[in-house]
Amino acid sequence: MAEPFLIGEAMTGGYGAVDILHACTIAVEPGEIAVIVGPNGAGKSTAMKAVFGMLTLRGGHVRLDGEDITALSPQARVAKGMAFVPQTQNIFTSMTVEENLEMGAFLRRDDIKTTLDQVYHLFPILKTKRRQAAGELSGGQRQQVAVGRALMTQPKVLMLDEPTAGVSPIVMDELFDRIIEVARTGISILMVEQNARQALEIADKGYVLVQGANRFTDTGKALMADPEVRRSFLGG
Ligand SMILES: Nc1ncnc2c1ncn2[C@@H]1O[C@H](COP(=O)(O)OP(=O)(O)O)[C@@H](O)[C@H]1O
Ligand SMILES: [Mg+2]
Repeated sequence: MAEPFLIGEAMTGGYGAVDILHACTIAVEPGEIAVIVGPNGAGKSTAMKAVFGMLTLRGGHVRLDGEDITALSPQARVAKGMAFVPQTQNIFTSMTVEENLEMGAFLRRDDIKTTLDQVYHLFPILKTKRRQAAGELSGGQRQQVAVGRALMTQPKVLMLDEPTAGVSPIVMDELFDRIIEVARTGISILMVEQNARQALEIADKGYVLVQGANRFTDTGKALMADPEVRRSFLGG
């Protein structure tokens, strides 16, 4: 089989002496949506940090487009086309919406105007509120700022840790629609979600993590249809 575009392969590591991840493997192809689900504390965020280079691995590798990037810093990974929206503190609340988006492009030397317009086209409310402090926005709008900021780097891979946390079902559906739209442009989406059912519905590929290890891996559809996955992880 061909090498996936982005793969964290057999990742083992944690925050100190204790390993949180145990040979955990996560991969995503261009234009694909890969979703990580699993109970609280399963290591989903840790797996994302590992893929983005925020965790030193004791075992395993991360490869992007065939290149081993295991030793690269997060900033070097951004330069290679990776963007990460962490679970918390993912925007600058005292800065305006537009300043947040401009900050996202800090590594770029070219004209960012076109990308800014693309973000405003994807999230029209951000254009309306571009002069407002991001901290004044609703939870769903803040998540749009965070995603928009990540898109300002023109990433090949967009990593999102619980982008719909704390938003209403309607706002969640809306955000998922936008994420599908982003994936259709060829960007790989790697996403952690608490709203497992809804996320697996839009997932090309799903990973169920338990205690830092892969428990189930399949298409989103197949996982949704698996009685054991349903019973144990999707509430029946
Ligand atoms: N910064 C940290 N330092 C030490 N332990 C951590 C840290 N972050 C998370 N952990 C621990 O790692 C485990 C996995 O956490 P996490 O990856 O956040 O799980 P999830 O995102 O699936 O809820 C938990 O036991 C958690 O307590
Ligand atoms: Mg988490």
